[in-house]
Amino acid sequence: MAIENYKAINWNRVSDMIDKATWEKLTEQFWLDTRIPVSNDMDDWRELDDDHRWVVGHVFGGLTLLDTLQSEAGLTALKEDVKTQHETAVLNNIQFMESVHAKSYSTIFSTLNTPDEIEEIFHWSDTEEYLQNKAIKIENLYLDPNEDPLKKKIANVFLETFLFYSGFYTPLYYLGHNKLNNVAEIIKLILRDESVHGTYIGYKFQVGMKQLSTKRQQEIKDWMYDFLYELYDNEEKYTQLLYNQVGWTDDVLTFIRYNANKALMNLGQDPLFPDTDEDVNPVVMNGISTTTSNHDFFSQVGNGYRLGAVEAMADSDYHVASPNDGKNADDKE
Ligand SMILES: [Fe+2]
Ligand SMILES: [Fe+2]
Repeated sequence: MAIENYKAINWNRVSDMIDKATWEKLTEQFWLDTRIPVSNDMDDWRELDDDHRWVVGHVFGGLTLLDTLQSEAGLTALKEDVKTQHETAVLNNIQFMESVHAKSYSTIFSTLNTPDEIEEIFHWSDTEEYLQNKAIKIENLYLDPNEDPLKKKIANVFLETFLFYSGFYTPLYYLGHNKLNNVAEIIKLILRDESVHGTYIGYKFQVGMKQLSTKRQQEIKDWMYDFLYELYDNEEKYTQLLYNQVGWTDDVLTFIRYNANKALMNLGQDPLFPDTDEDVNPVVMNGISTTTSNHDFFSQVGNGYRLGAVEAMADSDYHVASPNDGKNADDKE
């Protein structure tokens, strides 16, 4: 039984301004899959051969599984270790958006694939060994009540900023070739979200780390790099399975090592792999550069935190000029 009074969340007293800035960023970039006209990609889709179609379908099957995991156990686990009520509110937003992400792949499937193909893709996602390996490894961490909450944050950032990218490679590749643009539009919106999620959860991890002894910090760090190696090892096999048939495996592996470094950066750690943006296939890099400028957002927030100037709404804000508009007597400055 609770012995303390229940507290109403007060957005006029925010102790961590990153919570408020992230809430504003995420609500500002809210979107829904149903607004994107995926059927406009049918001509591009018909031009693909069976092997490439297989890759697109199964890549999205894998991403559906990972976004489902985030929308269920992933964010539920993070909500058990919040420092502020505003953090819970932000995590609620993230959790719902993970459900939007997971659903958006079904919107793509229902347009591009036949009912039998969709059945096969979901059967594959629910049973494929290397995909299930990573999902279950991370789910076990999330669900273990005795596991360190900081390790759950590490797993979360690895998923957000590293493990999604073997899948994102395909739509970004097509985007770079000006193909499947509406599918890519959905993926760009997902990427934009994941970029904020990974940065925010990484930031909360770093706040938690600062409270620990140097010895404990080192233990967590060692665990983190071991876990990354373990996941990368599995990711290599997953990537081969998906991409060997179209010959993209090496390029995809470069891309995921580059993103593994980004995940470490979100967690405040040094990179592990030598790969930089210059090693990534420029076509894919081109696709990604149109999507995410969120690192600028966070560096601005982190650096003393500046919000845009806010002023109260006036009547004139509701006045929309039209060509026939003369001077309006009610209009006052
Ligand atoms: Fe997601
Ligand atoms: Fe996410």
